[in-house]
Amino acid sequence: MTDLIAALGLRCPVLQAPMAGTSTPALAAAVSNAGGLGNLGLAAMTPQQAAQAMAETAALTGRAWGVNLFCHRPPVRDPVREAAWLDRLAPHFTRFGAQPPASLREIYLSFLQDDAMLAAVVAARPRLVSFHFGLPRPDQIAALRETGALLAATATGPAEAQAIADAGLDAIVAQGWQAGGHRGIFDPDGPDERLDTLDLVARLVPLGLPVIAAGAIMQASDTRAALAAGAAAVQCGTAFLRAPEAATPQPHRDALAVGETVMTAAISGRPARACVNDFTQLGGAGAGYPMTYDAGKALNAAALAAGHTGFGPHWAGTGAAQAVARPAAETVAALCP
Ligand SMILES: Cc1cc2nc3c(=O)[nH]c(=O)nc-3n(C[C@H](O)[C@H](O)[C@H](O)COP(=O)(O)O)c2cc1C
Repeated sequence: MTDLIAALGLRCPVLQAPMAGTSTPALAAAVSNAGGLGNLGLAAMTPQQAAQAMAETAALTGRAWGVNLFCHRPPVRDPVREAAWLDRLAPHFTRFGAQPPASLREIYLSFLQDDAMLAAVVAARPRLVSFHFGLPRPDQIAALRETGALLAATATGPAEAQAIADAGLDAIVAQGWQAGGHRGIFDPDGPDERLDTLDLVARLVPLGLPVIAAGAIMQASDTRAALAAGAAAVQCGTAFLRAPEAATPQPHRDALAVGETVMTAAISGRPARACVNDFTQLGGAGAGYPMTYDAGKALNAAALAAGHTGFGPHWAGTGAAQAVARPAAETVAALCP
């Protein structure tokens, strides 16, 4: 089994979660420079933007850093369901003096379909490449292996973890039900065991790969509990959301203090944990990922233009209220066991 901490050269077994739209080169580099592992979420970027972000990160740290890609099954479009979802949202657009979009777009390409992104990542040579929502194609895995990168993927249950082990990856991110942001479940329409982070870690350790615990790890005692359950490291998102280096919008920072979170598919079309707000209270399953997110972003933009902050994708885990506004390096130190 890979000694993950040694292979990544970490002084502290803490990974800053890749957070598409929220993690930045400054955040990733600050975490890596503090002895943890900083990560960039590339899923919402074009290959050109990703190349730029990776170059900026490499310029800010000489230590290891990582990137993350979304490997969802390319969507099967359902125009009737998409139109019905837009109809459902229409009164909320009207309330803000706006019109819903006439149709929805597939705003992000799955990494499975994005070989320009593969080329950008291969060229930038991050030390860790991780995957969410599924696994890449075998030839993509082989191309990334050639760079010497370590490879990891999110599992929300034992079957996904077994698939990750079978694909020959180096580590498993065990994402518990408490975790903030998108649930990495491979099939969002399938059954979900909703395992708690530490239960999930204990279930995955026997597979023999290093397990990285993710979900409601907010302080050093949580890290110690995860390591005691058999994890090799922890991955924390919510704990870094109030860092000055993060791109978290102010309404999202403000929402964290309230602390109540819920799993919802209404914002993006895939289950994700967010702070309770007007959007999460709408409910509904949307019209598939990522088309639903196109509508969600348009509704948030209309709301913000009218001075209303309740429709933002305020992703956060159940530890939201414990997130502290401080430089990322201090959060790494506070999470270190
Ligand atoms: C704002 C936000 C964005 C996220 N984006 C990603 C992402 O792009 N890729 C990914 O693998 N995980 C993403 N996650 C999930 C994290 O990897 C991790 O599972 C989660 O943050 C752990 O739970 P915690 O937020 O309680 O620390 C995101 C989480 C948050 C809070």
